[in-house]
Amino acid sequence: MVVFSNSNLFFFFLAVINIPLFTCKSVNNHKTQCLRRIAEQHFEQTSSFLVAKSNEDVYINSKENIFSEKSQSSDMSSCRNAESLTVILEDLFDTEKYSLAIWSNDGVHKKRITGSKYDGYVIVSHCQHYDDVVEGISNQVKEMRRYEDWNPRAKFIVILTEIWTDALEEYSTKKLSERILGVLWKWQVFNAITVVEADWQDSTNVQNTSVNSTPIFNVYTWFPYYPVGRCGDFVDAVLVDQWIGRPGDTDGYFLHSATLFPPKIPKNFQGCPLRISTFEYGPTVLEMKKNRDGSIYYDDGIDIKVMYELAKSANMTVVFRPPPPDNGLWGFDLGNGSWSGVPGEIMRGFSDLAVVGIWYKCDVINELDCLSPHIIDPVRWYVPCAKPYPRWMSITRVFKVSLWLGFLVSYIIVAFIMWIVVKISDMVLPESLQNRAYNGLVKCFINFWAIILEESASNNPPHIAPIRSVFLAWVIYCWAVNTVYQTFLTSFLIDPGLQHQISSEDELLVSGIGYGALSVTEEHLKFLGSKQRYPHRTNCPSLKDCLDSVAFKADYAFAFSAVCTDYQISVKYMEASGDPIICIFDEVICNQLITIPVMKGYPKKEHFNQVLRRVLEAGLTDKWFNDIKYMATLKLAKDFELPPGEYIKLSLKHLQSAFYFLIIGYICSICTFIVEFGYGRRQRRI
Ligand SMILES: *[C@@H]1O[C@H](CO)[C@@H](O)[C@H](O)[C@H]1NC(C)=O
Ligand SMILES: *[C@@H]1O[C@H](CO)[C@@H](O)[C@H](O)[C@H]1NC(C)=O
Repeated sequence: MVVFSNSNLFFFFLAVINIPLFTCKSVNNHKTQCLRRIAEQHFEQTSSFLVAKSNEDVYINSKENIFSEKSQSSDMSSCRNAESLTVILEDLFDTEKYSLAIWSNDGVHKKRITGSKYDGYVIVSHCQHYDDVVEGISNQVKEMRRYEDWNPRAKFIVILTEIWTDALEEYSTKKLSERILGVLWKWQVFNAITVVEADWQDSTNVQNTSVNSTPIFNVYTWFPYYPVGRCGDFVDAVLVDQWIGRPGDTDGYFLHSATLFPPKIPKNFQGCPLRISTFEYGPTVLEMKKNRDGSIYYDDGIDIKVMYELAKSANMTVVFRPPPPDNGLWGFDLGNGSWSGVPGEIMRGFSDLAVVGIWYKCDVINELDCLSPHIIDPVRWYVPCAKPYPRWMSITRVFKVSLWLGFLVSYIIVAFIMWIVVKISDMVLPESLQNRAYNGLVKCFINFWAIILEESASNNPPHIAPIRSVFLAWVIYCWAVNTVYQTFLTSFLIDPGLQHQISSEDELLVSGIGYGALSVTEEHLKFLGSKQRYPHRTNCPSLKDCLDSVAFKADYAFAFSAVCTDYQISVKYMEASGDPIICIFDEVICNQLITIPVMKGYPKKEHFNQVLRRVLEAGLTDKWFNDIKYMATLKLAKDFELPPGEYIKLSLKHLQSAFYFLIIGYICSICTFIVEFGYGRRQRRI
């Protein structure tokens, strides 16, 4: 495309189009006059137009291949390369009101040049044969819609210059217009008119004496939803106006001065079908069911509820398409301009809306438009939850090693001090007052050990003040340590606490567990496939496998949509306590917008956006999501084995560590006994 804005690019324009500057303009060209009048009356000044010739080259090529036998009946040169495109451009340009762009098919100027979308499209066909006209226009539109600036909401003017008219009904201009308007409607273009030279019957209706000398052009359009009950399925062209040419340089006029682009999309669709592409995917689309006649419908899900709101607001009847047969789900780029899955169905016009928690991809697919996003979906890492500490560790876990050592050291030191104090007092005091209970290091150790274990130390406490004070100090010390120890031990026995929880992406990457994402996610978020940041990533085959290995094997972490995973967790991955068994951390990888794609130019887009805004403002999507999660958890809770009441009975499980130590004690004593027994027998024999 080459763009010209009228003032400063004027000479550039002339250079490119190669029109001699001051030759006589074909003022006699009535079509040009007519087009200029349409532009003046129905377009604002400074509107931008894309002017295109119908794509005959493509058609003629394909005709040779496919319609080889037909090409005999329809003349191969039915499409003339007439000059009228240049004439039209020249004339529109002379008004100095519009920016013009030319569509060129040479594949060179296909970059988007205008910053905005076009307000009008002028498509000119020079073909004579009806099939050629329709095919050419169809090919041109298919070509144009692949570019980003394609705007089917614009006003389309189709000008047919060389048409053969015929008295037969089948070959009337009305029938031809219907076919052309039908082709445009396939790509959601409804603001279109065709301008075509009148059939001879039409001409006689007009009270114009010089029928043969002045041309008359019929302007056709159609109303997709009128009369009530029509749903855009049948094109019935209406003659909206006629252009009456005048001989000579004088401009012609419109017979009725009608509005050529009247509003055509009603507010109330009176039960017209709204075709939906979707498949089952919680929590957005749930509970697929079958009607008696085999058609399917869905009963629940956030997107399904949103979609029913949209349909209700326009009084449309919802029709669900079966899930995409190509197994494309959310769609993959097939590499030749088409997509699989639900986006592909929208692009090909099989359905109107795609609702299944689709992440915004309208920046990638030019043929699609997206309604306002209705959910923000954070993508997060889902990691295994930290495991509780094993209960047998409870007895030793109460104190840190340093504290245990400190305790041991003070035990030894105090026992030594006792021994020394006893020794000194024995030296000072007479024999009658000496204390037998503590004379000797071993006795000190054993007595003090008894105090640690809260046993009475000795039946005969010494009546000597220094010994008593050391003794008392040790008793108080042990009493304090014991109280603290028992308090902590009780709580550790009941709730041993959790081991370390992975709490950031960096920690995850070095934690040594496997991580990755589904290939659909990676298709959308390319950076997740980066070997630099995620060197050890591995893909898991399906969502269920991913979740199972995170929850049950605890050896995998994966990145996925929070909306979907939160739902899956409430469906299946909960504990009886109501805690999830799949964990997250605060970091969010990125936020995605969940939206509803439609074909570009979808006439109800604005209306649906308004409804969506109200749904959002009312907080309905959040409410629906919470309800769905709540119901799912309730269903899951059927199978929970909950203890009756709030309190739990102390069980063998809680006292695991105590019993382990008891066993260790028994084993030790048995060993000692055996050794002692053997030793005693040997002694006796000796
Ligand atoms: C919705 O359309 C049906 C036709 O299917 C019609 O009978 C009904 O009156 C319409 N409802 C409203 C509110 O217009
Ligand atoms: C694109 O390729 C797929 C298969 O790879 C094919 O089914 C489809 O028809 C192709 N589409 C076009 C427009 O060529």
